[in-house]
Formats: sequence, structure tokens, C-alpha cells
Amino acid sequence: MSTSRPRIVVTGAASGIGRAVAEKLAQSSRLILTDINVEGLHAVAKQIEKQGGSVLHLPCDFAEEAQIRELVDTITSQEKLDGLVHAAGVGPSQATCEKILTINLLGTAILLEAMTGVTNPNAALVLISSQASYFAAEWLSSAALEILKNPLRDDFGERINKACEGHDLSLGTEAYGLAKMGVRVLAEEAAVRLGGQGIRVNTISPGIIDTPMVHHEAKHLEGMDAMTQITPLGRWGQPAEIAEAAAFLLSRAASFVTSADLLIDGGSTKPMLSLQRAMANTSSS
Ligand SMILES: NC(=O)c1ccc[n+]([C@@H]2O[C@H](COP(=O)([O-])OP(=O)(O)OC[C@H]3O[C@@H](n4cnc5c(N)ncnc54)[C@H](O)[C@@H]3O)[C@@H](O)[C@H]2O)c1
Repeated sequence: MSTSRPRIVVTGAASGIGRAVAEKLAQSSRLILTDINVEGLHAVAKQIEKQGGSVLHLPCDFAEEAQIRELVDTITSQEKLDGLVHAAGVGPSQATCEKILTINLLGTAILLEAMTGVTNPNAALVLISSQASYFAAEWLSSAALEILKNPLRDDFGERINKACEGHDLSLGTEAYGLAKMGVRVLAEEAAVRLGGQGIRVNTISPGIIDTPMVHHEAKHLEGMDAMTQITPLGRWGQPAEIAEAAAFLLSRAASFVTSADLLIDGGSTKPMLSLQRAMANTSSS
């Protein structure tokens, strides 16, 4: 095993975007893959090893704080990390709102906190947000955005509910958008905090990407066909297209990129926001 290759953690590596990222980085990095899906994780690790890649794989449930902290302790006990791509997450119709916030937002906050001090200088962290964060940004107040900076506070639930009054956070889509906006807020905070050490923190906001999550959402949410039709590129994205962007953000080619969000959506977010605003204006007039 070459020690000159960077040590990169990929979460959500058993499926979809995380899996594509692991496959993309397999030849250039020493990978640590994690996911709640032990069987899927094992299969991906086996396939990468077969192709000569170096993989450590450890299960972790991102709904469980102790497991996240234990994972980071275990993988950094001997050697620091050079990068992270955090893709583990659940979709708007895959879990209760509480679970969506716990996994997608609190899990990310705990991971970032646990990783403090265990990354090498010049490390790069990439968190997967969503185009849903842009839709949430339309209705989130500045007070709510401020509260999202500290999701691990004991009174976070109470404060965010109050700041989001008038919005039904029991709807999966609203909770998902809030959580994914929170991921961007956390990344921006971490970029400022860690910039002095040369550590870069960025997010990727995918539009519709052809993964098992999206196939699940397509069965449960209305409007996916309309979203595809409104997409300038006229199609869904592929996980490999997100993996290319993640590899860029991890690389020295992106050495001056931090606190940025890369919206990779085939162009769909802007026309969708215009449509939403037009519909809101019509219903209010
Ligand atoms: N597919 C899309 O269109 C799309 C769009 C925007 C954002 N995203 C985001 O991209 C990321 C990857 O999603 P995907 O589309 O590849 O979905 P996916 O379902 O294919 O992969 C998600 C992975 O996360 C894992 N996971 C779920 N809950 C977990 C938990 N509690 N602990 C650990 N691992 C857990 C799953 O086992 C799975 O392997 C997610 O954060 C998702 O919100 C996806």
C-alpha cells in the first residue's frame, strides 16, 4: 500500500452517489468506506479490491452519535485523513421528518465535529447537499439560517420550529430541504473555522440523479416528470457525474475553492424557482 496516496473517507458508499465516488477514487486514494448497509458496503469494497484498490470498510449508522464518533476515532487512531465525501443520507419520503433531520443534518454536524483535529493540513471535505436547499432558501428566514449553524444545541428543535413557523416541518420535503440547507450552512462555517489550516470545505447540490433514492422518491413524490421536463439538459444526472465533481473538489486543482456550493442539476433549479415564484405570486394576488 502506497502511503503517498491520500486517505479519503466516503460515507454512503454502498449505493448511488457514494458508491460512484468510491469507484472514481479507487485507484488514486486509500479509501475508507462506510454505510449502514453492511452487505452493500462489503460488495463495493470487494469489487474495488478486485481491481487492485485499497479499501477499509466499516459500518456506521449516521443516526447514532456514538457510532459516528467511534468510526472517526477508529479510522484516525493511527493516521490522519486527507479527505471526506459525505454522501450518506435519506430522501424526503424514505424516513420520518425527525429521522431526516437526525441523519442528514445532525449526523453531518456530528461528523464534522468529530473530524476536528484529525485531518491533515490541506485536507478537503465535500458534503453532499441537494438542490432542495435552494428551494428551502426561498422560505427560510435569516433567523432560521442562524439557528442552523448550531444544530447540536439541546434547544435546536424548539428554536428551529419557532423560526420556521408557518412551514410544515412534518412534510418530508420541507424537513429534507431544511436539513440540506443546514448542510450548506455547516460547510460554510467549517470552511471559515478550518481555512487557516489550509483545510477546504465545500458542498455539492445535486439535482435529480439516477440512484436508488431517486427511484424511491419517483414512486412517492409528485412532480418528478415535470422536473425532468423543465431541466434544460432534459434528463436525470448520473452518479458518476457527481463523482467527477467530488474528485475535482478533493483535488489540488480546486486548491482555492472553499465555502462553495456546486449546483449540479442539469440547469433545473433556476426554472423551477421561477415557476414556484410565479405560482406563489398568482396565489397571493
Ligand atoms: N439522487 C439524487 O437525486 C439526489 C439529489 C440531491 C441530493 N442527494 C443526496 O445525495 C446523497 C446520496 O444519495 P443517493 O442518491 O446516492 O442515494 P442512495 O440511497 O443510493 O445512497 C444513500 C446511501 O446512504 C446510506 N444511508 C442511509 N441512511 C444511512 C444512515 N443512517 N447511516 C449510514 N448510511 C446511511 C444508504 O444505505 C445508501 O447506501 C444523499 O445525501 C442524498 O440526500 C441525492
